[in-house]
Amino acid sequence: MRYARMPIEIEAPEEKGYNTIRYNLAESSMRDISLKDLDIDFKELVLFYGEHRGVVKLRQAIIEDSKVLSPDDVLVTAGAATALFIVATTILSSEDHLIVIRPNYGTNLETPRAINCQISIIDLGFETGFEIDIDAARNAIRPETRLISITNPHNPSGKLYSQDTIQALISLAEKNNCHLLVDETYRDLNFQTPLLPYAAELSDRVISVSSVSKSFGAPGIRIGWIISRDRELMNDFLAAKEQISLCNSVVDEEIAWYLLQNKPRFIQPNHVHIRTNFAYIKGWFAAQPYLEWVEPQAGVVCFPRLKASYTIDTEKLYTILYERFATIVGPGHWFERDRTYMRIGFGYPSLDELKAGLHSLQVCLNDLAVKK
Ligand SMILES: Cc1ncc(COP(=O)(O)O)c(C=O)c1O
Repeated sequence: MRYARMPIEIEAPEEKGYNTIRYNLAESSMRDISLKDLDIDFKELVLFYGEHRGVVKLRQAIIEDSKVLSPDDVLVTAGAATALFIVATTILSSEDHLIVIRPNYGTNLETPRAINCQISIIDLGFETGFEIDIDAARNAIRPETRLISITNPHNPSGKLYSQDTIQALISLAEKNNCHLLVDETYRDLNFQTPLLPYAAELSDRVISVSSVSKSFGAPGIRIGWIISRDRELMNDFLAAKEQISLCNSVVDEEIAWYLLQNKPRFIQPNHVHIRTNFAYIKGWFAAQPYLEWVEPQAGVVCFPRLKASYTIDTEKLYTILYERFATIVGPGHWFERDRTYMRIGFGYPSLDELKAGLHSLQVCLNDLAVKK
């Protein structure tokens, strides 16, 4: 495998230095929590090798809401990132074919590239509201297609795919003897609609991936998971995990279990915060002369772009925004898009920080956007 660093990781806020950023609108998560927010006593915790699949009480907590899933359908991993790596490296080889929706979380494109498998990319269009073109996915199927890869709720647009869309992709996977990967890392950030079932509940051809990183604001404990009802495949995933790390950090698992046990205490205030910030940013876009957006439906990010009637020096825009205003957003190239697109995260900042960050962006746009 040949690994390449991705721009989104090279330029990530934690790599730039959090102390250089005042208004961080580049994050796709909630604000990070601290150990002091938790009431956990670690004194009796034995630092042994944990159960390889993940401690069973955590796997139980992960599928608590499901009537269909059991803890045996869950493999705990070091964040959703490792889960996605395990899925790609287990299923794909250089002889296999992948259909992947773009934009997507970088790993979902970059690991398949490192594997050197054949890839058909289906680009989502702003004009169609980032809807997945099912016909394009169907036409891309080949005999050697092993995986179709999507993110729902979608990063970076915040689009929530309908159950009809998910079902159409499941049918495609079932008919063509391949798997559907649904990266559901933002699942618990459904702030407008009731929580949907894991896609893996709907078919044993589906692999769901999620984590505590985004919705609980706990990316520093590296806990994510894979869910699938395909037991043979889960055994292969377990073999991969055992070769990567054997088990997870038992400390991380204890914290993740605590978070899931106390889910309403953490998630409900997060939803209130998101709704408040969402209302603000929605108003900001309604009055916005330069940018247009597809209103997000879930998660904490949106993916606006410069209106076609304007042009802008994007190099200057992002440099001045950061250097003069200590404000960052996620520029389009993080998502293999034109840099006139940008991802704006509205869940991580406080309301005041969001207001100030959007104001900085407005000042830069006022200065730099030129009518065509
Ligand atoms: C869609 C998506 N999947 C996976 C990840 C990785 O998350 P984790 O911190 O759980 O590894 C991210 C992080 O940005 C993401 O946006």
